[in-house]
Amino acid sequence: MIIAIDGPLASGKGTLARALALHFGLPHLDTGSIYRATALVLIKNNIDPNDKAAAIKAAQNLDMSNIIDSEIRTALVGAGASVVAAIPEVRKALFDFQRNFASNPKGAVLDGRDIGTVICPDADFKFFVTARPEVRAQRRLKELHAAGDNITIEELTAQIIERDYRDANRADAPLKPTETSIMLDTSDMGIDEVIAKAIATVENHKS
Ligand code: CDP
Repeated sequence: MIIAIDGPLASGKGTLARALALHFGLPHLDTGSIYRATALVLIKNNIDPNDKAAAIKAAQNLDMSNIIDSEIRTALVGAGASVVAAIPEVRKALFDFQRNFASNPKGAVLDGRDIGTVICPDADFKFFVTARPEVRAQRRLKELHAAGDNITIEELTAQIIERDYRDANRADAPLKPTETSIMLDTSDMGIDEVIAKAIATVENHKS
């Protein structure tokens, strides 16, 4: 069984993906982490994420084996990830890694922006997770502050607007639901409720 979960920044897709993977005993890939890791290579080497040639090279040579999670979770790396993710050759370089993960005989849960549309168009379940921008801003602010990132709500709101726009309007693999996506607006739901709803949907429809 393949479960695809897409949605914008801090919509709750990562938490939902981890919970579904645990519940159904499936491996989980947070595909945002590979775009973040690509951006981190550039940032660490003082290279602008807009430098296409360098971004493509970083994606082609990406080694996920020694990624430190806290290093890729910063707001700066998130913003860089969205920039490199708009480069078609970067997406192409990271495609096989994601497809290989999804071809695990057990199945898999993948979360990102283009899982239902490009990476796993034949997924058994496609969830599209959203929440109002101001709710997402508060969630992400809490996470970043807990991790020691001193970003302000104003800076973060500006980043969210920019990142949402770039992710949804790029030419290659923009963030969008498919005709069969199950829409989940998590703005007014606790995470336990979101997880229970998604599990019930899968339980009720899986063959
Ligand atoms: O956790 P958050 O929602 O902030 O973002 P993420 O899932 O870690 O992804 C970071 C960035 O990578 C996104 O803003 C997208 O531009 C890009 N991305 C993508 O283009 N396609 C994916 N499948 C996953 C992430």
